[in-house]
Amino acid sequence: MIVLGIESTCDETAAALVEDGQKILSESVSSQIDLHQIYGGVVPELACRRHMEVILPTIQEALKKADLSLQSVDLIAVAHGPGLVGPLFVGVQTAKGLALALNVPIVGVHHVEAHLYAALMQKNKNPSFPALGVVLSGGHAHLLQVNALGSYEMLGTTVDDALGEAFDKVAKLLGLPYPGGPPVEKLARKGNPLAFPLKAGTCKGFPLNFSFSGLKTGVLYTYQKELNPTESYKADLCASFQHAAFKDVIHKIKLAARQIDTRCFIFGGGVTQNTTLKELIEQEFPGYELFWPSASLSTDNATMIAGLGYHVFKSKGASDIVALEPKTRIKL
Ligand code: KG4
Ligand code: ZN
Repeated sequence: MIVLGIESTCDETAAALVEDGQKILSESVSSQIDLHQIYGGVVPELACRRHMEVILPTIQEALKKADLSLQSVDLIAVAHGPGLVGPLFVGVQTAKGLALALNVPIVGVHHVEAHLYAALMQKNKNPSFPALGVVLSGGHAHLLQVNALGSYEMLGTTVDDALGEAFDKVAKLLGLPYPGGPPVEKLARKGNPLAFPLKAGTCKGFPLNFSFSGLKTGVLYTYQKELNPTESYKADLCASFQHAAFKDVIHKIKLAARQIDTRCFIFGGGVTQNTTLKELIEQEFPGYELFWPSASLSTDNATMIAGLGYHVFKSKGASDIVALEPKTRIKL
């Protein structure tokens, strides 16, 4: 079954063709980094307009790369949330129009669930359930109990910023480019992670929830005290920020893994591209089953949407094309 996946939840417009949930026939991603870079974060109205401009060419490019026509598509899978409402409308309406015109079924796919599915694509082994799902992206920070594909329980989430968002804000503060993860990681490699006593927040009564906004403010106050911030000062600050954030993530992963009694973790989201985080987790959890997405599947993409869409369709059938609508929040 050939699935056309469409993704437009935030600032990437993406289309992909995937066969039977696993075989990637083609992928096309149009990034909006150039558009949002000067603001240091995503501007929803601008994102929405750019999605409108590029969504059809992006789909056409995916078809061309796979050497397929629209008539070969058996199912349309679209990320219908969570995300920014305007960008979501563009993807969902495009998907509905195509499904109607081609007379093929459509399925709405949960964007966060797709981030977890991305780590399972093209792997020759299955995870041992229950597994711990860890999604760390620009918009999400979640710890989930994964009982099976399609069955999740939320264990913890962020009460303020997502981790990628905190990286982006720290980068903006230090005058580094957007998205902030890669330049902060690069600078952090040259710095001392113990130079500044920064700490991530804790949430009283909810030990598995995240809070990164105080950590970000800690970086701000530290930075404001320095009259002449050199490159090495900034490197120490990036390293200390990253160290504090990852220490907190690892501590909460440990607690969650103990709570659900698992030695199998599934990671998703752009922050999992961070090699320091990967190294720390691999050191901390030797012998555990760790599922990481490949670099191109860790950030927003339509391959994970098409891949998961196939399974959603097989297990639950098609979505109602009229009732399917964008949702800025959806429970997993
Ligand atoms: O998964 P994604 O495309 O975003 C959402 O779905 O929201 O991930 C983008 C986020 C950005 O915030 C970016 O700064 C962060 O992932 N990121 C990183 C790294 N590469 C990307 N964060 C830390 N270290 C990295 N190497
Ligand atoms: Zn995402």
